[in-house]
Amino acid sequence: MARIVLGVSSSIAIYKACEIIRQLQKKNHSVQVIMTQKASQFISPLLFQALTGNPVLINLFETKETEKIEHIELARKTELLLIAPATANFIAKMASGIADDFLSTFYLAVNCPVIVAPAMNEAMYLHPRTQANLQELRRQGVIICEPERGLLACGDEGWGRLAEVEKIIALAESLLTSSFKWRNKKIIITAGPTREPIDPVRFISNRSSGKMGYELAREASRRGAEVILISGPVNLPSPYGVKVIRIETAAEMKKEVEKYFDEADVVIMAAAVADFRPAEAMTSKWKKNQGIPEIKLVATEDILDFLATHPLRKKKILVGFAAETQELEDAAREKMEKKGLDLIVANDVSIPGIGFEADLNDVLILDRQGQVIRSGVKSKREISQLIFDVLEAYLEKAT
Ligand code: CTP
Repeated sequence: MARIVLGVSSSIAIYKACEIIRQLQKKNHSVQVIMTQKASQFISPLLFQALTGNPVLINLFETKETEKIEHIELARKTELLLIAPATANFIAKMASGIADDFLSTFYLAVNCPVIVAPAMNEAMYLHPRTQANLQELRRQGVIICEPERGLLACGDEGWGRLAEVEKIIALAESLLTSSFKWRNKKIIITAGPTREPIDPVRFISNRSSGKMGYELAREASRRGAEVILISGPVNLPSPYGVKVIRIETAAEMKKEVEKYFDEADVVIMAAAVADFRPAEAMTSKWKKNQGIPEIKLVATEDILDFLATHPLRKKKILVGFAAETQELEDAAREKMEKKGLDLIVANDVSIPGIGFEADLNDVLILDRQGQVIRSGVKSKREISQLIFDVLEAYLEKAT
């Protein structure tokens, strides 16, 4: 039983929302409807109110202050946002972040999986702008329940008919089942670079932006897991609902990972941990007139190697990353074996535009059973969804 919000916009397919509500209720979910203003002109909100037993929300700006706070509470408690039917206009608003009514504002406020089921005339659906907006939504992590081909309200035969209700419900159920699996699971995720001090103003670091690790933390939290994000210095906002611990050096990162390891079910080492550090950090700034310093480097401790031999290792799932510049698959497999990992995510950091610092990535996910999955070039958000899908299947096999 989950708390689902059904967002309804003004497509002719709106009448199918009633069947969606009934099917969700049959599975014991509670449904709250939010309609767009135009949708409420198509069908009276009273119908949805009668079906769900909850007053329908339409206009944010007509609600009393106290109710607004309750609605923030609703955003916090919602476990799935399903927008069906979604018009071309509403999809465009979601893609660009316009928040001028209740439903579009709500989309920005939730931290849960979101499904969009488009319904419109074929020309509108196939219009490059609509396709670009749908692509943008996928990039934002929204799951699109693709429309089907069939007879449309305009009398034409073509693409754009709302997906069958059974298909929408099955998709909703599979996302909710995934959330149930992650509830009660604790995940440590590391992200970003580390900084190894040379003196009080200089350090050795690397080009990691932390974006991949932060997206993974967001995805884990969206699926209902408790997330501890141990982060090096990055320029990113903390993902909603995630406990963020900020560190600077590899040694500090190791200390924090070790501290939470006992309680964790999964550790994902997405951080680009420095392999070397200056043997001694100078206590005062090295001045130019002192000449060029000779900096002796020593190895940092490898956190994954440390975890691999930990007495509790067998009870945990360990996921590593491999940043490579050549022979990606072989190098990653070797790293997985050497570090005793369950899964490894490998990316080629020599390709411009993906990997380090970029919003896009292209990874190979390898597991110990020899499975290899290639993501193709996608946003780091989509890739984190894929990684969690693979991890979820792996966890299922392991338990
Ligand atoms: N890692 C770690 N501790 C370190 C260095 C790396 O736990 N001191 C982890 C990274 O977070 C990553 C994995 O090990 O998940 C692989 O990191 P990578 O830099 O690709 O490989 P290295 O082990 O450093 O090996 P090499 O430099 O030979 O590629």
